[in-house]
Amino acid sequence: MIEKESWKFCVAPMLDLTDRHCRYFHRQLTKKARLYSEMVTTGALIHGDKARHLDFSEAEHPVALQLGGSDPTELAFCAKLGEQWGYDEINLNCGCPSEKVQKGAFGACLMQETQVVIDCVKAMQDATTLPVTIKHRIGIDDNEDYGFVRDFVGNLFANGVRVFIVHTRNAWLKGLSPKENREIPPLRRQIAYQLKKDYPEAVFVINGALKSLEEVETELKFIDGAMVGRAAYYTPWLLADVDARLYGSNIEPVTREQVIDSMTEYLKNTAMDFHALRATCRHMHGLLTGLAGAKTWRRLLSEARTIEEEGSEIFHYAYARAGWADQKDPLKEDEMWSY
Ligand SMILES: Cc1cc2nc3c(=O)[nH]c(=O)nc-3n(C[C@H](O)[C@H](O)[C@H](O)COP(=O)(O)O)c2cc1C
Repeated sequence: MIEKESWKFCVAPMLDLTDRHCRYFHRQLTKKARLYSEMVTTGALIHGDKARHLDFSEAEHPVALQLGGSDPTELAFCAKLGEQWGYDEINLNCGCPSEKVQKGAFGACLMQETQVVIDCVKAMQDATTLPVTIKHRIGIDDNEDYGFVRDFVGNLFANGVRVFIVHTRNAWLKGLSPKENREIPPLRRQIAYQLKKDYPEAVFVINGALKSLEEVETELKFIDGAMVGRAAYYTPWLLADVDARLYGSNIEPVTREQVIDSMTEYLKNTAMDFHALRATCRHMHGLLTGLAGAKTWRRLLSEARTIEEEGSEIFHYAYARAGWADQKDPLKEDEMWSY
């Protein structure tokens, strides 16, 4: 049963960013947001270290596993694995434009292969009881014909897909890097609104360049859900308002000190190598963005030697050095957009 409320606010899948440690951190800021894994390719799951790709903490729920692939049998196997591991959703990547992904014939180029996507989705639906959802773009290259994405969505809807995450830009498969592909193709949010009008029973989640909860609230007047990527990663404190503001939760909002304490406990209790420890520090760079001491905080969380010396006390140490040790958590400032 699809509960549209479950997709009201989502943090986007981001390769090299939204690993399990990042998601655990985000979960300290919001209990309600739906979190997504980095894209995991079927090849990596089938031939690689499954636990390394799939393990996560119970606290992360609700959490979706995003898969990259285009072979129905392999995707079915991986979707089943995701269910066994305890994920809440399986999402298929039909939006990534990178050349590497194109060589593997998946990601955004799948939008040109609707029948392949239908076969993949059917195989995954047969293999799991979890919702199988799609993340996609609104067109390929310079094709701005609405009919293209309308029919892509319509065909999948007819085959049981009920949740569509729409990055409201075309994917340009030639000539742009993935980064440029997140910035240069124009945003056309009205395409997502039109999809919602044409398929009112499906759940549509809008994605692309949302920078604040004000913008999210505006979108929610037109559409079921919003997915935020870079803003959530680089200015994570915006997540601390999600539960109260979007879900009407009256639980006491979290403070930065509480987040730092729980992340310290997490470091103490979670087996991780130095690489993962550094990544966890990196995920928390943005916690003080917009406040005095933010630069010191970021610098200390980037220094391998300091991280090594402080170990699980790194966050307390950096917070104190940033000048916040004896001060109360400040009022939430306006989010900064500085990346
Ligand atoms: C570093 C980085 C890695 C990304 N990796 C993925 C990915 O693995 N799967 C995916 O579907 N999208 C990926 N994306 C795209 C985001 O999910 C999102 O669609 C895009 O950044 C637009 O949203 P935003 O403007 O809120 O960041 C990535 C984006 C970034 C910045």
